[in-house]
Amino acid sequence: MAFPTHVRLVEVGPRDGLQNEPEPIGTATKLELIDRLGAAGISYIEAASFVSPKWVPQMADHREVMKNLARRDGITYAALTPNLKGLEAALECGVEEVAVFGAASEAFSQKNINCSVAESLARFEPVLERAKAAGVRVRGYVSTVLGCPYEGEIAPAKVAEVSKALYEMGCYEISLGDTIGTGTPLKAKRMIEAVSRDIPIAKLAAHFHDTYGQALANLYAVLEEGIAVVDSSVAGLGGCPYAKGASGNVASEDVVYLLNGLGIETGIDLDALADTGTWITQAISRPNRSKAGVALAAR
Ligand code: HMG
Ligand code: MG
Repeated sequence: MAFPTHVRLVEVGPRDGLQNEPEPIGTATKLELIDRLGAAGISYIEAASFVSPKWVPQMADHREVMKNLARRDGITYAALTPNLKGLEAALECGVEEVAVFGAASEAFSQKNINCSVAESLARFEPVLERAKAAGVRVRGYVSTVLGCPYEGEIAPAKVAEVSKALYEMGCYEISLGDTIGTGTPLKAKRMIEAVSRDIPIAKLAAHFHDTYGQALANLYAVLEEGIAVVDSSVAGLGGCPYAKGASGNVASEDVVYLLNGLGIETGIDLDALADTGTWITQAISRPNRSKAGVALAAR
């Protein structure tokens, strides 16, 4: 299969990137980050997470973030909603798109959302129904698609099974998460092949973390399979609170640099994105994990 001509970036920095930060980050900083990302040409931003503040304290200001966004035309501002409670709160704040998140591993599902995979799917059904009634689209995440911190290897067939369940329930897109970044390119390809037997490839997204430095190589492999939606985080911020040692998402700047080199359109201004990476890492005193971002800042 040929590379796609256009790739849509899903910027998860304000959510996946910040959710694990131990020191409180002000709502104003989050709002400025989201606005700068929009100004750089990102068309889809995961802005907040309507989860329990006891579980993920950093996302406790989800209402303030969602309500006070300086919305720009043509940008989707989305939020995670693990259950009806989260969805109702997100709807009250004017969310236009949400995401449910399940896993291909039983143990990870228990640690992350406190229920089995089957229970999570049953919990998502009313979320999808309610969202549909409100005219809100739902994205579906599947975590641990290339390995689990508790169970180790994950069979591609299990990833395909959970993905299919979410897709049939009405999720318009399935984002496949290498939560702990242990995947390698051939594994990533095989996983995509298994999932795309049931779901059109245009409905799949790659969500790769870079713990072992493989995320860009894995992305190249799945772009070759026809994947045209990529989740990434500015400056490579992030980590999952329920996956110890896992590092951030692949850096958005690095993805855009790669795609530019392949002649694949994104509509994103790489310099503005790199400036945003420099700004946020200074604002929260974190190292910039984007190689392209660091190189561009040093010019
Ligand atoms: P639970 O304890 O099983 O739920 O948590 P519960 O219904 O029994 O409620 C317990 C308490 O939480 C109650 O409060 C509820 O009101 C409250 P209390 O009576 O104790 O004061 N509660 C909520 N509060 C705010 N918003 C809500 C909500 N729901 C219940 N939506 C729950 C279940 C899912 C809520 C919990 O396990 C949770 O919040 N987990 C957070 C998981 C999380 O955010 N993980 C990180 C994001 S996933 C990720 O990073 C992976 C991804 O990037 C893809 C990848 O990389 O693989 C997406
Ligand atoms: Mg993630």
